[in-house]
Amino acid sequence: MLQGKKILLGVTGGIAAYKAVDITSRLRKAGAEVRVVMTRAATNFVTELTFREMSGNPVSVDMWAPVQHWNVAHIALAEWADLVLVAPATANVLAKAALGIADDMLTTTLLATTSPIFFAPAMNCNMYANPAVRENIDKLATRGAHMIAPGTGTLACGAEGLGRLAEPANIVAALENFFAEGAQLFGVKVLVTAAGTIEPIDPVRYIGNRSSGRMGYALAEEAIARGADVVLVSGPSSLTPPVGLKRFVSVETAKEMRNAVLREAENSRIIIKAAAVADYHPKTVSEQKIKKNDEELSIVLEKNPDILKELGEKKRAGQILVGFAAETQKLLEFARAKIQKKNLDFIVANDVTKPGAGFNTATNLAKIISRDGSIEELPLMTKRELAKRIFDFVLPDELK
Ligand code: CTP
Repeated sequence: MLQGKKILLGVTGGIAAYKAVDITSRLRKAGAEVRVVMTRAATNFVTELTFREMSGNPVSVDMWAPVQHWNVAHIALAEWADLVLVAPATANVLAKAALGIADDMLTTTLLATTSPIFFAPAMNCNMYANPAVRENIDKLATRGAHMIAPGTGTLACGAEGLGRLAEPANIVAALENFFAEGAQLFGVKVLVTAAGTIEPIDPVRYIGNRSSGRMGYALAEEAIARGADVVLVSGPSSLTPPVGLKRFVSVETAKEMRNAVLREAENSRIIIKAAAVADYHPKTVSEQKIKKNDEELSIVLEKNPDILKELGEKKRAGQILVGFAAETQKLLEFARAKIQKKNLDFIVANDVTKPGAGFNTATNLAKIISRDGSIEELPLMTKRELAKRIFDFVLPDELK
């Protein structure tokens, strides 16, 4: 997929800059032509010479370097690139790009290019979670930039969390995916929700459920593999968001999930709601930790918004809405009723009492039911395999 592709690699000043050397090597091995632009800060981590040797091309850092050709360097680079990849992308470069600041070779090139831009953020987990960074990432993604989500792990600063540069192999895979010729869902936005929501009782306790997020994450992976622009809205989960997501939105409560989903839903072609949304939340959340003074404790619960129902009411022409139904009895009857009640196109129904089906397992035993009544009854299979079968079944002919 990368044979002959011209990739402009922007390297910014984070400790993960050394991994960009591996990315350069992998891109070249895959047949791409690579040119590297470094920020001044990046040169503190890796020398220009390293990237010059690895890319086989001169490296740009300064806007004011002696002229080599009679063209304007940043414009020439911007036009040359089939794709621009910024890896690692620091919080600083994301902020500059979001604001359109152009004060060095890389940011000027980012502003001047009309080619697709991929950012692979890497930073400390608190920085990555900071609302300023989240907003900048959202802003860039809304404008069409592709985000290669970081992974979780031990960071250079010793902290544990989300912020580690995605693995070089996965970054290259994300670009390969992008160029995958005839990718079935290229340019199609797919919204997936995953995991359970948690509803606070007091500062230390919550009501939750057993959903691990595996089904939703597998669906997101499958949609990425088919070339879609995938947004994953997830409740708390121990899983690492798949590489190649357009956006990862982490939420806790049903209300937060609703807000995130409604924001993303409008321009989504396919929406799959695999999340186990809590149907109720405690009516009042105690500000202080509840002490065990009484023999009995009652918590009054209040209904949560039904996100899927709301999506069904707002569904626009051509949008495909897929729900999940976890049942313990009358599987088909209840699942069909949900199709009607929530105005769905499909529902994936599983009897969670069956071995290997349902929550917190690697496998699932499901039936996919369409609005017109057809049923795909599937044997026990991994959630990843089921994700594939779900897409095979729900995609309309024009996307097949
Ligand atoms: N769902 C939702 N918002 C809720 C509850 C559920 O979007 N507040 C979605 C789930 O993501 C799932 C589907 O609705 O795709 C089915 O959820 P389920 O809890 O099984 O159905 P309910 O409508 O809540 O009905 P019941 O609990 O009575 O079975």
